[in-house]
Amino acid sequence: MSRNILLPRLSEIGAGALDRVPSVLKALGIERPLIVTDSMMQTLGYVDRLTSQLEAAGVAHAVFADTVPEPTESSIKAGVSCMTAGLDGGAAFDGLIALGGGSPIDSAKAIGVLGHFGGTSRDYKFPKEADRIGLPMVAIPTTAGTGSEATRFTIVTDDTAGEKMLCVGVGFMPTAAILDYELTLSVPARVTADTGIDALTHAIEAYVSRKANPFSDEQALAAMRLIGPNLRRVYRRPRDRAAREAMMLGAHLAGVAFSNASVALVHGMSRPIGAAFHVPHGMSNAMLLPAVTAYSIEAAPARYAECARAMGVANPLNTDLAAINLLRKELVALNAELNVPTPGDFGIARDDWAAHLDTMAEQALASGSPGNNPRVPDADEIKAIYERSWFADVDA
Ligand SMILES: [Fe+2]
Repeated sequence: MSRNILLPRLSEIGAGALDRVPSVLKALGIERPLIVTDSMMQTLGYVDRLTSQLEAAGVAHAVFADTVPEPTESSIKAGVSCMTAGLDGGAAFDGLIALGGGSPIDSAKAIGVLGHFGGTSRDYKFPKEADRIGLPMVAIPTTAGTGSEATRFTIVTDDTAGEKMLCVGVGFMPTAAILDYELTLSVPARVTADTGIDALTHAIEAYVSRKANPFSDEQALAAMRLIGPNLRRVYRRPRDRAAREAMMLGAHLAGVAFSNASVALVHGMSRPIGAAFHVPHGMSNAMLLPAVTAYSIEAAPARYAECARAMGVANPLNTDLAAINLLRKELVALNAELNVPTPGDFGIARDDWAAHLDTMAEQALASGSPGNNPRVPDADEIKAIYERSWFADVDA
């Protein structure tokens, strides 16, 4: 059976890569880009740094800085209006530059597809697809987490239905990725932890996925080798350049891995928590990862053991049983050291959590992601895992 593998066509990786944007635009033939970003990137001065380079290179451009965390359909509509209006004077944009964390990049993907092909995000909700390539897009992540610069996915929340929609297709794959780890040096500890666990979850889920393949396996293992030893380091020492560089590459490779395999049960269950309670994506993954792993291990023990070895928490001489026990302990210890809250500690009321269990389980199953898990749960099992995650109980 053949596999469909998608990657960005061009990548610029390393310190100072941000300054290479004009040459990347030239290579891609982009002459009038729309920059899609958020107000934080403006405050940090990254937008000015980018636009002054474009001005120096004589590249006409405009900025849309109104993307929101965990993008919503209404925020995407505002971006689409900006894109279809074109430059002052009316010339149409011929490409996009996405600058920021996962949310601005996910927003730019949706804006690019909807602005070019029309429709709403729901028209591209899985299992429907954006199956055509639209305008070229340069993605510049400023966190080491989502790997969105290397994925064929975007997530948009339908603000009316309160649902996080997974949208898939070649239309959402960036054409170029600029990976400049120096942009992550000022990321706060909480965001560093949440995005880092998100990246680790991508690598683990890609590796244990039913859609794993030899190509995605190699990317996933490489990602775990980079993330495993460096996640605590970047949390404790934000300006550790070597650790930040490893995390940036690790998150990217984890993105390549899951985009070409899939995510699984953690992500399937995480999106409904985000939609209902506005828990940041990586944090809700972290809340779920120990309990979901404990539930899933029996269906793929050798694969989880290999994850433990790649992360550096087990060694090649450990048996699979020893390695998976070490992995379970590690995921609990990691959450403790990175101060990941339980849902209750986050501020969710117990009654509210219980009242949402049916809807969250339904949305998790509808996303399709649980079907990629090595052990496929039914709705009752999903609710039981939500409950174990509430109590941070991983003795499944
Ligand atoms: Fe994720």
